[in-house]
Amino acid sequence: MAPDWVRSAKRLCVLTGAGISAESGIPTFRGPGGLWREYRAEDLATPEAFARDPKLVWEWYDWRRGLVAQAEPNAGHHALAQLESVVPEFTLITQNVDGLHRRAGNRKMLELHGNLWRTRCTRCGKEVDDTRVPLPEIPPTCECGALLRPAIVWFGEPLPPDVWHNAEEAARTADVLLVVGTSAVVYPAASLAPLAKASGARVIEINTGATPLSDLVDCSLRGAAGEVLPRLLQ
Ligand code: OAD
Repeated sequence: MAPDWVRSAKRLCVLTGAGISAESGIPTFRGPGGLWREYRAEDLATPEAFARDPKLVWEWYDWRRGLVAQAEPNAGHHALAQLESVVPEFTLITQNVDGLHRRAGNRKMLELHGNLWRTRCTRCGKEVDDTRVPLPEIPPTCECGALLRPAIVWFGEPLPPDVWHNAEEAARTADVLLVVGTSAVVYPAASLAPLAKASGARVIEINTGATPLSDLVDCSLRGAAGEVLPRLLQ
């Protein structure tokens, strides 16, 4: 069933969340040991939090950059990179900011929530890749002298419109959508699965637990992404 759908897909779309990076040792947000169990999102991941205390926000992001720098892509990431190379039309939509999909080899990617390794100037808007760990100066500043912020979408901020447009298009035109390791509670990302389903795609969920999507999907595969995804390709 699910493996046949994936193997015969002409237009395959994948939506990933923090669960796919869990086996690389990167904490998720809402599960046991999740970041939002230990920290308050309002203190760290909102424009208001940054305006109040940019140093605190940057210290948290610098810590997360350190965690990710030590991590490696896992078997789940590698399986998705392999899928990209065999499926005629492939789009990977990720909510993750860790960059592990790129490190595994995926290129046809839409990063809905930005990237941990990019900064954006709060005045001139210039975006720059910066992979230094730890950052030499916290909070970092732009060459124009203004504060830099992480190029990440915070709560209360809109997604980049072009990225979101392309994500909706990919979900709408997919014949199969794989939804991997997301609690499916953060919108608008969570609306992509119902959109794909309503547009005729077969939707397959891979997750260690149940989510609000589990009853909607055509096939729910319970298990770790790093085990289930490679099996789907065999
Ligand atoms: P969550 O932490 O909300 O959900 C992670 C999901 O992964 C849960 O449903 C787990 O059951 C599942 N999971 C855990 N380990 C897994 C494994 N090894 N294999 C498969 N599934 C596993 O993370 P997201 O859904 O990604 O936003 O959260 C969405 C957004 O909320 C994030 O992008 C972030 C956060 O606030 C921003 O930072 C803007």
